[in-house]
Amino acid sequence: MKKWNVYATRRILDPAIPIIAKECSVVLNNKARPPTRSELLAGVRNKDAILCTLSDKIDRKVMDAAGSSLKVISSYSTGVDHIDMNEATKRGIFVTTTGDILTEAVADLTFALILATSRHLAQGYEMVTQKRWKHGWDPNLLLGSDVHGMTIGIFGLGRIGSAVARRAKGFNMLIIYHSRHGRNIQVDNELDARCVNMDELVEESDFLSLHSSLNNETYHLIDRPKLRRMKNTAYLINTARGLLVNEQHLIEALRRKWIAGAGLDVFEKEPPSTYSPLLKMKNVVLSPHLGSATLSTRTKMAEVAAKNLLNVLNGKSPIYAANLESSGLRLGNIAS
Ligand code: DGY
Repeated sequence: MKKWNVYATRRILDPAIPIIAKECSVVLNNKARPPTRSELLAGVRNKDAILCTLSDKIDRKVMDAAGSSLKVISSYSTGVDHIDMNEATKRGIFVTTTGDILTEAVADLTFALILATSRHLAQGYEMVTQKRWKHGWDPNLLLGSDVHGMTIGIFGLGRIGSAVARRAKGFNMLIIYHSRHGRNIQVDNELDARCVNMDELVEESDFLSLHSSLNNETYHLIDRPKLRRMKNTAYLINTARGLLVNEQHLIEALRRKWIAGAGLDVFEKEPPSTYSPLLKMKNVVLSPHLGSATLSTRTKMAEVAAKNLLNVLNGKSPIYAANLESSGLRLGNIAS
């Protein structure tokens, strides 16, 4: 008999499930999609631990369904906006994440979107593959905007925002940022970055790139008034969370050409509705939430998610805890 029972909502990369299965009985949703709500509620019943992804809404009902045996929710993600953190903490349930493993991969993808939107890469690809490129080199074809020498505005100067800033420096961009922690003197000195207020960020950016977590303060942060203040030559880049942007307002801004375009890896609803006007727009580049999607990043995330889960069950500190410091939760007393 294995000591603990675990519900895993997706088959994530090895070595996650084999590591966990050495010490626990694992019920795995083996389908190539997240569990439905009823599958999730049934799956978590009487489990000691849940291994989940950001597609699973882990709220009070799920914690109720799991019952008092639930000790740890290990998320195969860095963001925790899909988990009711207050409720978990109140119940003494540890929440763990994959911390900063994905930082560089997300920063790389952010630059992929900056380059793809400003240089019309998706339209160029379509033109070639759909055989609409008829006359060879063309002096007027798909003229884009420069990236080098332009101003990047970074909202949220945490680990990913700083990694994007370092890349921007390599592209010889001017860097401005807005952060709830205020000025970061080290970044200012190293990268010639300038901390500005939100209005300046929105008005001065040629590329406005979002790198904040989703919370009550950042929900629909980018809305009609802010989009109206942006330069009509500017691009909005979002590799953080879809709900940072009011998508209806963004669609309006793109239609009315208040801004030049958008590079979006994340959406209010994922996948977006098949009727979403975004899907037909020429001035957007869209990708399916690929920020952390490199084999090496996702493999490291898998290993850490498994170790986090087992560490907590064994009364040890997880590698990345989301609610340990603030909560007064104590390890070491749950391994019996
Ligand atoms: C995360 O982990 O929060 C990313 O959005 C997906 O890997």
